[in-house]
Amino acid sequence: MSLADLVGLAPEALRDPGSVYDELRAKGVHFAPEVSAYVVSGHEDVSRVLRDAKRFSSTITVGNPPPSPNDDPNRLRPLLLLSDDPVHATRRSIVNRAFTPSQVRSWEPVVRRIAEQHVDALRGIDPVDLVERIAAPLPVRVISALLGVPADDVDKFRAWSEEITGSLGGHAADPEKRDRVQREFTGYMDALMNRHDGRAGDDVLSTIVAADRAGELTRREAVSFTIELLIAGNITTTHHLASSMKLLAENPGIADRLRAEPALIPRFIEESLRLESPIQGFYRLALEDSVVGGTEIPAGSRLLVLYQAANRDPAAWEQCPHLKLDRPNAAAHLAFGKGPHACIGSSLARLEGVVVVETLLDRVTEITPLTPPDEVPYLASFINHGPTSLPARLVFRPTGEVPA
Ligand code: HEM
Repeated sequence: MSLADLVGLAPEALRDPGSVYDELRAKGVHFAPEVSAYVVSGHEDVSRVLRDAKRFSSTITVGNPPPSPNDDPNRLRPLLLLSDDPVHATRRSIVNRAFTPSQVRSWEPVVRRIAEQHVDALRGIDPVDLVERIAAPLPVRVISALLGVPADDVDKFRAWSEEITGSLGGHAADPEKRDRVQREFTGYMDALMNRHDGRAGDDVLSTIVAADRAGELTRREAVSFTIELLIAGNITTTHHLASSMKLLAENPGIADRLRAEPALIPRFIEESLRLESPIQGFYRLALEDSVVGGTEIPAGSRLLVLYQAANRDPAAWEQCPHLKLDRPNAAAHLAFGKGPHACIGSSLARLEGVVVVETLLDRVTEITPLTPPDEVPYLASFINHGPTSLPARLVFRPTGEVPA
């Protein structure tokens, strides 16, 4: 399989792009016409480009052209993902306050309650689609809770989230619909922020409202950040949860080991992120002539920086293709990026992964996948990677029985 297969969205390449990345790494940094970009795929080169935000701009991260003076000023854009310093550093220092380690820890009971509701609702249902019932709805419920969205509005919020994410990736065929969705969402978030009593709290909304009222963020920036959380946090976490459950279903030995030793679940989550990175890669724009991995890159070139290829680089990982629960460097993967734009929500995503796997293994003694591994459907994207459906048969532990 080749890069052309992956970019052409061949189902088998989307499902298991490992051999494509092996070939790209073997060629070193090179220009690939299939993506009109220099492809960077070794662990060291990927880390270097991500750290060097002075030379490599984030304005084209998701593949769209950089902003132009002709852009519609009313279009909402993510606050951080596509901005460069000094704007990026200032904004990031403000919104970082919403994701401190102690804040993320305080969200655990909320995440656990939501995970338990989703898993418990599957009792007596046969078969279940683990993507439809757990991986897809859970992250947006968590973000809704952290933004103080009332329970009755969560479905509406999820629909907006899907529309907005699709339109950022350029998939929305209908610009009028996109603009309407953005207007509705902005109006909704405006009202939510106006209603907030301004009291400090551990939730994300309180932090953003405080910055808004202190004049550190304009209202437009505050709304843009909530949009960014939906775009950056939902589909990625959905894919991470889906891939993790797929790994458990297809490796009952690992599921049994984790049931016996739940303390290993965080390591399983790191390996799941490394082997099945929900974002396979993003773009950068070279601001000046530079050399990466021995290859000259002229100013103005695009680079496709492949996190997943780096995470499968045998030079960085012993027994690279294997899921190992005892890797000393398990968390050194690049699934959350690296450097100034590294994922702001990584601790939340890890928390969601750990809590969902704990809850599932605590209640379910057997997960039998109903689709053969080489037929599981994946999202038609070479940037976002994850199964779109995962039908399975679950055997629940009888209620009241305590796990061994
Ligand atoms: C497993 C789930 C997730 C994965 C794999 C993931 C991956 C990433 C990656 C690779 C980047 C770096 C982009 C770059 O290099 O330009 C990033 C940035 C970001 N992520 Fe995540 N993410 C996840 C979950 C989340 C969650 C749950 C949130 C928030 C609720 C979030 C919010 C963000 C934001 C705001 C950025 C932009 C940071 C910046 O540009 O400074 N992500 N994410």
